[in-house]
Amino acid sequence: MTVRDMEYELARAETAVADLRSNRNDRWYPRVHIAPPAGWINDPNGISFFGGRYQVYFQHHPYSAQWGPMHWGHVSSTDMVTWRREPIAMAPSLEEDRDGVFSGSAVADGDELVVFYTGHRWRNGRNEGDGNLQVQCRAVTTDGIEFTKQGVVVEGPAGLPHFRDPKVWRMGEKWFMVFGVCSADNRGEVWLYTSADGEAWDFDRILFRDPDPDAFMLECPDMFPLGDKWVLAYCPMGPKPTGYVSRNGHNAGYVVGDWAPGSDFVALTDYRLVDWGAEFYALQSFEAPDGRRIGFGWMGSFTVPPASQAEDGWSGQLAVPREFTLGDDLRVRALPIAEFAGLRSHTDVLGAQVVTPDAPVTVLTEVDSAEVELTIDLAGSTAERVGLAVNATPDGHATLVEYDDLARRVNVDRRNTGHGEKGYRSAPVDPGDELRLRVIVDRGSVEVFLGDGAETVSSLIFAADGPREIRLYTESGTATITSLVAHRLGSIWEND
Ligand code: FRU
Repeated sequence: MTVRDMEYELARAETAVADLRSNRNDRWYPRVHIAPPAGWINDPNGISFFGGRYQVYFQHHPYSAQWGPMHWGHVSSTDMVTWRREPIAMAPSLEEDRDGVFSGSAVADGDELVVFYTGHRWRNGRNEGDGNLQVQCRAVTTDGIEFTKQGVVVEGPAGLPHFRDPKVWRMGEKWFMVFGVCSADNRGEVWLYTSADGEAWDFDRILFRDPDPDAFMLECPDMFPLGDKWVLAYCPMGPKPTGYVSRNGHNAGYVVGDWAPGSDFVALTDYRLVDWGAEFYALQSFEAPDGRRIGFGWMGSFTVPPASQAEDGWSGQLAVPREFTLGDDLRVRALPIAEFAGLRSHTDVLGAQVVTPDAPVTVLTEVDSAEVELTIDLAGSTAERVGLAVNATPDGHATLVEYDDLARRVNVDRRNTGHGEKGYRSAPVDPGDELRLRVIVDRGSVEVFLGDGAETVSSLIFAADGPREIRLYTESGTATITSLVAHRLGSIWEND
């Protein structure tokens, strides 16, 4: 049932976001990461290739830098190097999505892009106090821009508080939908529905129940094949932090298993983080036309307000697009898509170096957005720690991306970052004689890729004032660097 006119709501939202945009502070605003022009972003939605363009939608609140009634923002690209800002795609307008057009996904079907999303309502009309009323809805577009909502396709069993985030894919003529559920006994589950036409859906089975009894809801599940296995990615709500794992208010992880239509999912691995950083959530992937599995995640937080939220007029960004592959060890590897190199505007090959504690090496000055590729000869180094001080400012602030040879881990350490949350995050390093790092530095974030992508660490970082440098340093011993390459990166925006 329509309760508001979507066209009117979209026009109102565009005016609001343009107002915020005119006062946006750009000190931390991303150049190489997708973000709305202003306001709030969370999960990537509807990732697809349709109409000759890559389509990326996202959870968006255009009225402020805080989370609020969700809209779907939109950007598109022909090459995934540069991106075009598109009009906001959907706003609350039906009774069923009155309090938010929540997360969902897209399937290209001939001339149409079909999207599935969660229509969200607060039971009491104000907040989660009395629970949610959530249903899976369908909408279609023929140009990727103007959507026609078609209403509810999956109703929730009465009383379940969390029932959301449909991820849909097709195999042959059959359609599959997974979404996250909080069961009647308060456990996090992923449910599977199937359909012959994408319109009428039947419950198939409970595909997965998180063995962790603290996990009461699995947000934003994604389910995709890599090789002859299936990856089930999800974001459990509730797990307690253990060691380096589940340190964030919100964490994204995955299990790998066997699955075929009509069968149960058989997990072959334990839960593993998709990314070890402070901000990486709600991974959503799609199959590119050339068969690559590419995914986007949200870098932001519901629990730790990003520093830009206070007075800069915006909050959050998407991580750079990653290509996912599966190792023989059944661990998912993630590297920036090959296209990302298309943003390199200038490259300095700094070559081999032996770095000592009293002589750090300047890698780049006046940094806006950059990528550094570094190979450390671990066998030939004595340093206890070696790394990059990124977004280092004249007043002595910096974020440290460092290999710790005692712990055999790579850390992103924000204890000396200018603004925002402190603390560090840390990924394990596979034993070996050398360590390769790829580090993407933007105005408000750092993403670190280890080796062949076996681990990644992504965090928001908010620098102090002044020009920013990247420096290579060691602590307690020397470091032998066999290769050091620094790239300056251009902006991803075609229209800004
Ligand atoms: C996860 C999430 C989803 C929901 C959306 C609402 O980040 O809570 O479960 O659909 O955000 O914005």
